Amino acid sequence: MKIKKAIFPVGGLGTRFLPATKSMPKEMLPIVDKPLIQYAVEEAANAGIEQFIFVTSRGKSSIENHFDHSYELENNLLLKGKKDTLKTAQEMLKIPGSFAYVRQQEPAGLGHAVWCARHLIGEEPVAVILADDLIKGSNTIKEMIDNYKSGNMLAIMDVEKKDVSSYGIITPGKFLENNITEILGLIEKPSIENAPSNMAVVGRYIIEPAIFKELEKQNRGASNEIQLTDAIANRIGETDCSGYKFKEERFDCGSKLGFIQANIKLSLESTEMNKELKTWLKKEFFDGRF
Ligand code: UTP
Repeated sequence: MKIKKAIFPVGGLGTRFLPATKSMPKEMLPIVDKPLIQYAVEEAANAGIEQFIFVTSRGKSSIENHFDHSYELENNLLLKGKKDTLKTAQEMLKIPGSFAYVRQQEPAGLGHAVWCARHLIGEEPVAVILADDLIKGSNTIKEMIDNYKSGNMLAIMDVEKKDVSSYGIITPGKFLENNITEILGLIEKPSIENAPSNMAVVGRYIIEPAIFKELEKQNRGASNEIQLTDAIANRIGETDCSGYKFKEERFDCGSKLGFIQANIKLSLESTEMNKELKTWLKKEFFDGRF
């Protein structure tokens, strides 16, 4: 099934990154030299997404500017003959009209953010991508779309038992084909004792239009927020719900540890600096200094 639209909820406060995120969106934090949100947009584009819908909030205008022309910069690069850098700055722009922005007026939760995009979505399934969940390879949402048939599909991964209370956790059903598991139940941020498994939902979803009707109820769940997972859970039994166990490494860039790990990993893979970085790391950490 062709899915043309993706929602990028970027309305959260990013309190775990204060003070960095006081006036700068968390989603603009860079991994090596690219903001998180650009990785998310590239992953969507790679999956054939044509309409990119951002749910923003106050103080997030740098995201809009990032995906627009910067004439002063481009002119400067042109005058200085920096063709490759100019290409980098221009290539990330999409065709006019393919980016849309709606405001979430208060950070009432991920479900609320997704609901804020409802008028831009018709009677079609839509992808939802959380930029702070960085999954290497830029292929996960494509693989999900390729395997999607109906209902709701969520990206899932195994987490350590001690971490279940930070995630939506699924009750797995039977294993279907291509790394897909039937989902029989879903609970947001359960205690370790109440967690039905250690299979957690991470920030890639394909949701059916009926989810917007569920979110319309504005029911508050864990952390007193309107939770996307609760809306999806309410649809289990009415429609298919499945989990896609992606293969690539994922970094929780909403946490400082995950963010630093992603930067180290991707820096070590960057041809531009991997040699020098490796040499420095070896000298600094393995020559008996620490
Ligand atoms: P998080 O759960 O990481 O929340 O949101 P947060 O507010 O961004 O960060 P912390 O916990 O305060 O540090 C996951 C994703 O959902 C979006 C966020 O922007 C992030 O991309 N989100 C969350 C919204 O768009 N609106 C919300 O009300 C909550």
